[in-house]
Amino acid sequence: MTGTKRIYLSSPTLNGKEIGYIEEAFRENWIAPLGKNVDEFEKELAAYVGINYAAALCAGTAALHLAVKLAGVTPGDIVFSSSLTFAATCNPILYEKAKPVFIDAEPDTWNMSPEALHEAFQKYPQAKAVIVANLYGTPAKLDEISRICDEYGAVMIEDAAESLGSVYRGKQTGIYGKYGVFSFNGNKIITTSGGGMLVSNDEEGIKKARFWSTQSREPMRHYEHKEVGYNYRMSNIVAGIGRGQLQSLEEYKRKKQKIYNSYCKAFEKIEEIRMNPLNPGGEANNWLSCITLEKGSCIRPEDVMEKLESENIESRPIWKPMNLQPLYRECDFIQVESRNGVSVGEDIFNRGLCLPSDIKNTEDDMERIEEIIQEMF
Ligand SMILES: Cc1ncc(COP(=O)(O)O)c(C=O)c1O
Repeated sequence: MTGTKRIYLSSPTLNGKEIGYIEEAFRENWIAPLGKNVDEFEKELAAYVGINYAAALCAGTAALHLAVKLAGVTPGDIVFSSSLTFAATCNPILYEKAKPVFIDAEPDTWNMSPEALHEAFQKYPQAKAVIVANLYGTPAKLDEISRICDEYGAVMIEDAAESLGSVYRGKQTGIYGKYGVFSFNGNKIITTSGGGMLVSNDEEGIKKARFWSTQSREPMRHYEHKEVGYNYRMSNIVAGIGRGQLQSLEEYKRKKQKIYNSYCKAFEKIEEIRMNPLNPGGEANNWLSCITLEKGSCIRPEDVMEKLESENIESRPIWKPMNLQPLYRECDFIQVESRNGVSVGEDIFNRGLCLPSDIKNTEDDMERIEEIIQEMF
């Protein structure tokens, strides 16, 4: 419908505080290299999530890559990864020429199934690391996954790109693994336009990540290099945006939760619609609210997406599982149960979609979206 306001899936929400940090950097002619905003953003983010060290990087993907390197992954090593996630979770396994093995999701949380992970370790006890994502902001069963990793001596990497602010059993997500990763890309709960953070209690590891991310330059007067390096550091301007944004994280989380609750209420009487699950052991940031349509419904997720698009409302499919991607066709996939004749992740992908979850949605916007969907059923 032309002329109606566009409703976005999840667009940046600036709070006005970012500009002060950017202006300060301009005034001091310190937009690069690194600088006060980078140092402070690392400290502030680490304090917020409750961990000792953080390295601000140019992307969550860069943070995942360095986490894989820190885990000691070398060519040919087996690394387990969530299957139902975005490709950035597991692509760094290929950067290091290691072998991904994908672990199916569980219906309870849509995240890595601890049972399937256990099964995977029976088959590959030598696996070096496990990358577990907290999908759409819902925490995985992180304590169980962490216990299984410990049992088999594998390094746990938590991809908390989507779950900044989510809490599980009293602890923030992102700090359960030896290394945790956050993303500040444009659609995340807080954004720096683009950026990421690697967090850990491993001080040496974070120092090493900073070294690798600034071209692995040895501490000598001339340019000396013993190891391959990367240009992965965050700029002082970008970090200024992050410092401002971080101050709104709690408020944005409450707004995202309100959006989720509004959808729950709107669809509670429609038997064909189910909301994405929350983990009862935790509190999700509800980065994206999603639904699945019950098997047998004559409406398909594509129908809902097309209808919303015709009303100038953005939505998107559920991530297509990695075990179904042509890039990862040759990789092993471990599943312990099936739903509707396919793996759990594939079933969620087939039947699901992500609804607009923009913090700036007004009550009228929410009503508009909900009514359009209600009318379809
Ligand atoms: C689960 C997940 N992992 C990793 C990333 C990568 O983060 P970035 O875009 O900051 O590289 C994203 C988002 O883009 C994501 O959703």
